Amino acid sequence: MVRILGIETSCDETAIGVVEDGRRVLSNIIASSQDAHRPYGGVVPEIASRVHVEVIWQVLAESLTHAHCSLEQVDAIAVTQGPGLPGALLVGVAFAKGLALALDRPLIGVDHLTAHLYAGEMTADDCEPPYVGLVVSGGHTLLCIVHPEQRFEVLGETKDDAVGESFDKVAKLLGLGYPGGPVIDRLSDEGRRDAVAFTRSTAKDGCDFSFSGLKTDVYRYVNKHNAECGMRNAECQIQNSGHGFAADVAASFQEAAVDILVSKTLRACQRTGVKRLVVGGGVAANRRLRERLTQEGQSGKLQVVFPPRELCVDNGAMIAGLAFASLRRGQRSPLNMAIYTNSQLN
Ligand code: KG4
Ligand code: ZN
Repeated sequence: MVRILGIETSCDETAIGVVEDGRRVLSNIIASSQDAHRPYGGVVPEIASRVHVEVIWQVLAESLTHAHCSLEQVDAIAVTQGPGLPGALLVGVAFAKGLALALDRPLIGVDHLTAHLYAGEMTADDCEPPYVGLVVSGGHTLLCIVHPEQRFEVLGETKDDAVGESFDKVAKLLGLGYPGGPVIDRLSDEGRRDAVAFTRSTAKDGCDFSFSGLKTDVYRYVNKHNAECGMRNAECQIQNSGHGFAADVAASFQEAAVDILVSKTLRACQRTGVKRLVVGGGVAANRRLRERLTQEGQSGKLQVVFPPRELCVDNGAMIAGLAFASLRRGQRSPLNMAIYTNSQLN
């Protein structure tokens, strides 16, 4: 039995989990600094780093308590090496190095995007590579084939905004706060998906994505509406009422974003002939995306795997889980391991 501690600080979540043998999640504690970023409408890197420093010891203590284990009972220390915000990554990596050195345990640097997909493998009964992976988060939108032994073949990625970023920007425009994804997901229940036919712009016929055209279309529509009704935003953007303006825009935007994701993903599956799909990242928690892709899986031609919603957002369990395979292959990271800020999957 191998017990790995996984540390994740790539963005605004300070998260630490303990996982046994790459699959059994003993603990998964996530502390978010979202409240501190909310007044600014998005993540402020300096604030994210500072909060990581302030809370990381407490998150570690809680994670060990939940896992009913001591630091000495941990066999290896895994940490997100990248991609992410440099200052935020450095906090987790320095902390992990300190623990590895003090406890004399192996250090394992883990790729954040690969870990998002591993969350699906970790929790499904019969899910192994090869599969098509769709990573949808605040910073990335990427389609790839995951081959055995963590070999990646990128099929396409966003040419402009990440899909999570477009959820956040549309929510900000509608005055719904940060982070926008969960609010738009909830508010869409109150609106009509066909209220506005927003553009389904794509980056031509490959497997690349584009979301800036959709975002601009939503901006144009909302600004025109606000101008027409004399900027009475409070009246226009009735956030909780039955068929309010904001709810209709949210539902119509979400439908367009999901349409883009679903069509490109099915194209990737058809082109590659791979019959298994794993979806990971914060936007994989979106209920409409889960519903639409799960429906595709019901035809029996495609196995569709989503991690449970709590393992879609940034978390330490996916980092610890993925590190198990690296440890078994004998991989270790040196104590002078560097971080990286951009995706290495290409
Ligand atoms: O993977 P993640 O936790 O952090 C990054 O690696 O970026 O993803 C965060 C993103 C944010 O843009 C957030 O708005 C989005 O995931 N998100 C959602 C939902 N929950 C989180 N987007 C749509 N629907 C959701 N339910
Ligand atoms: Zn993430």
